[in-house]
Amino acid sequence: MNILGIETSCDETAAAIVKDGREVVSSVVHTQIPLHQPYGGVVPEIASRAHVEKIDHVIKAALVEKVDAVAVTYGPGLSPALIVGLNAAKGLAKSLNVPLIAINHIEAHLHTPFLFDAGTQETPPPEECLPALGLVISGGHTTWYNLQDYGSYSIIGQTLDDAAGEAFDKAAKLLGLGYPGGPVIDKVSRQYIQENPNSNLIQFPKGRPRANVASLSGLDADYCVSFSGLKTALLRYVQSQGGVEVLKEQSEIPRIITSYQEAIVQSVADRTLNALSGSNYKSLIIGGGVSLNSRLREVLSEVANKTNVKLMVAKPKYCGDNAAMIAGLAFYRRNITGEEAMSIDVSPSLCSCS
Ligand code: KG4
Ligand code: ZN
Repeated sequence: MNILGIETSCDETAAAIVKDGREVVSSVVHTQIPLHQPYGGVVPEIASRAHVEKIDHVIKAALVEKVDAVAVTYGPGLSPALIVGLNAAKGLAKSLNVPLIAINHIEAHLHTPFLFDAGTQETPPPEECLPALGLVISGGHTTWYNLQDYGSYSIIGQTLDDAAGEAFDKAAKLLGLGYPGGPVIDKVSRQYIQENPNSNLIQFPKGRPRANVASLSGLDADYCVSFSGLKTALLRYVQSQGGVEVLKEQSEIPRIITSYQEAIVQSVADRTLNALSGSNYKSLIIGGGVSLNSRLREVLSEVANKTNVKLMVAKPKYCGDNAAMIAGLAFYRRNITGEEAMSIDVSPSLCSCS
């Protein structure tokens, strides 16, 4: 069964065909990053306009085979961006006379490790990996899920404030490293550690929330993170050293961002270890743009080894937003279809476990 997926929740216009939920037949992603770069973040109106300009072209490029259904992200995401994809999907499903399937973007990120390209070796199927601990770590989310089954998700932990990707992006903005911050921080840190393996890193806070605070919303503090203190600690450190320009002259930026990245990675690894310890999980499934981070992959792979679970990460091209994850998940999860899907509206703050 071929499903065409469409994704426009943020700053990527994407379409893809996936066969039987896992084999990627085509995947086209048009990124708007250069349009948002001057603003240091995604501007919803610019995103919406760019989606409108590109969507027809992207769908046409992905539509290389006959499809049996159309799947589309209906939330969470930016409302003016989501609307473009949803409307295009409704029109296409109607004109092709195939069912429409509305998909939750966050849930789709957790499907990415199960995708493989046509003609390449298959990855293990979800059935073999469940129950699993899921971690979606992106520019908008840092959330841990208990996945007992496809369709049976519950949130066990999350960030109380900024997402990990946001923490990377804000630090990069403060230090004048451009947008998005994650890739440049990853690259500079890798080089810094290679050249300075015994470097004395700055000890930034490891994002541990206090137990029983209201913002935990009943979740266990052991499985939650908070990055707002880390951001403030970075700002204070920079100010105490005389500001960004002084630090640049002293070539101190690489050591600072390596330390900052290490604080994010260690806090995520610590909460993941807590969640895996003593559980019945068979695997740790990771999705989202920050799962590209090389240091995070290295440390989480150690955590998975230690707790004897299989680490499932996507190919780099499926870590960020894409439509193959939408088309793939739709094969397994058809919770909103038929007339209900045709009349559905976007759900910008859709709960990630619905
Ligand atoms: O999943 P994604 O493409 O979009 C959503 O937020 O849904 O994630 C984008 C985020 C950005 O914050 C970006 O800085 C971060 O992923 N990112 C990384 C890396 N590549 C992208 N963060 C850390 N290391 C990376 N290599
Ligand atoms: Zn995403």
